[in-house]
Amino acid sequence: MGLNSNVAQRYSSGAILLHWLIAFALAAEMAIGFTMPMDASGFALVQLHKSIGITILLLSVLRLLWRLMFKAPPKVEQGFTGFLASTVHVLLYAFMVLAPLTGWLIVSSAEIDVPTLLFGVVPWPHLPVPQALNHTYEEAHELIAFVGIALFLLHVAGALRHQFMKGGNYLARMAPGSGVGPALLLTLGVFLLGGAVFFGIGPREEEHDHATDHGPEAEAHEHDEGAEDEPASSGEVTAAEEERDHSTHDHGDEAAATDTDAAQEAAAEAAPVEAQPAAGPPPSWTIQPGGSLRFSVASGDMQLNGSFGSWGGSIAMDPDNPATAQISIDIQLGSATLGDATQDNMLQGADFFATSANPTANWRSTSVTAQGDGRYRADGTLSLKGVSRPQAISFTLSGNGSSRSVAGQAVIDRNAFGVGVGDAASGLGGNVTVNFAFDATR
Ligand code: HEM
Ligand code: HEM
Repeated sequence: MGLNSNVAQRYSSGAILLHWLIAFALAAEMAIGFTMPMDASGFALVQLHKSIGITILLLSVLRLLWRLMFKAPPKVEQGFTGFLASTVHVLLYAFMVLAPLTGWLIVSSAEIDVPTLLFGVVPWPHLPVPQALNHTYEEAHELIAFVGIALFLLHVAGALRHQFMKGGNYLARMAPGSGVGPALLLTLGVFLLGGAVFFGIGPREEEHDHATDHGPEAEAHEHDEGAEDEPASSGEVTAAEEERDHSTHDHGDEAAATDTDAAQEAAAEAAPVEAQPAAGPPPSWTIQPGGSLRFSVASGDMQLNGSFGSWGGSIAMDPDNPATAQISIDIQLGSATLGDATQDNMLQGADFFATSANPTANWRSTSVTAQGDGRYRADGTLSLKGVSRPQAISFTLSGNGSSRSVAGQAVIDRNAFGVGVGDAASGLGGNVTVNFAFDATR
């Protein structure tokens, strides 16, 4: 059969454009899928994986419609190889639809519902599927990915074989231009992009490494994995969830045995004894607008930084006689932001702040002691997500007269408050550092 590149021998430009768009997107998607860390440190990559994957689904549906509307050029080979080529094409189409569909099923059935915002912007719904099948979808997704790689290699080998062993300009059927150059460049590009993304992100750490790296969190994570391994009935999953909850709390209590926490608790108990009788009510201070309340927590090898936009409180304190101080700070948890809409949504959910049930966190002082040079240590009680516990804060005061600048820090054991449970939090450090700075006037 003649293989000149007259119009009838070529795919339509729309088909060619979609073929290569999807090929490039798939190369990146695969590389991200195999490298993205499945804990909090991989959050952004998983979001990207979801976004590109859904894009591939939409492009593939478009491409199939295109295929139905515009006829493909006649087949170039008959017999067994022709049959093999057509079979691989049909299977590639199936792969292009089933890979993203099973991915979509995974996130739809996940125990922890992380909303999908395509490229951080477009909300994408989840399918109403049972949680119990989550593991099955994961297995299917992975298997389909491997089958896809095999199909891709067969497809490329077949195309190159035809180009170089049968003569003619076969590859130009599916590439711009009439020569073999553009097709070979595009092919090289697909491989390079896949390789660059894969090695750019770096191969996934073994789960075992995580265990040694992050101690307690990794234990909770492994526990999760165990739970996921037995999704046989929804009843069992619930039991596993409960168990997991326990382990998280236990871990919180263990953490309470660390030196700082023990000191905090001791100080809080000693507080009423230490407090001096007041010589008069301490002066009140008004928190001025423009202050900041930030938080940061380790996430894998990185650090997540966020802030609260809405908080306030009342301060009554004589800097020279801090024993009489009474400080109460309210924080609107709904104003927490990490600068990423999807992550912010997750912060509001049951695994983190559960904002709808407990919209406000409060810290109230029990005793404030001066430590010299304008430095103070304030012991108090933090109420967060339905848990009240001793929580120390350190701060410095600068300025004098009726205007002061306040800057300080608290290190909070988030597990003790049940903030950050489940898979989405598995790479997060246990301590959240809170920094604040504001001006106050009398
Ligand atoms: C993940 C990457 C790829 C996917 C999913 C894919 C998928 C497909 C599909 C489904 C078709 C059938 C078109 C139809 O008749 O409806 C096709 C055709 C074709 N592909 Fe790919 N392809 C990929 C990468 C490549 C690469 C790297 C090359 C270059 C070697 C290539 C070369 C071709 C050629 C020449 C055709 C026309 C086949 C013919 O009709 O005889 N493809 N591709
Ligand atoms: C053509 C599209 C897609 C391809 C080729 C693909 C490929 C992959 C690969 C290779 C993995 C790693 C499998 C493993 O090592 O276990 C993976 C994991 C994953 N993918 Fe996709 N994916 C696609 C689309 C999607 C979509 C659309 C979503 C969600 C909307 C998604 C969600 C996930 C999730 C959540 C995981 C992690 C599963 C786990 O917990 O191990 N994927 N994907």
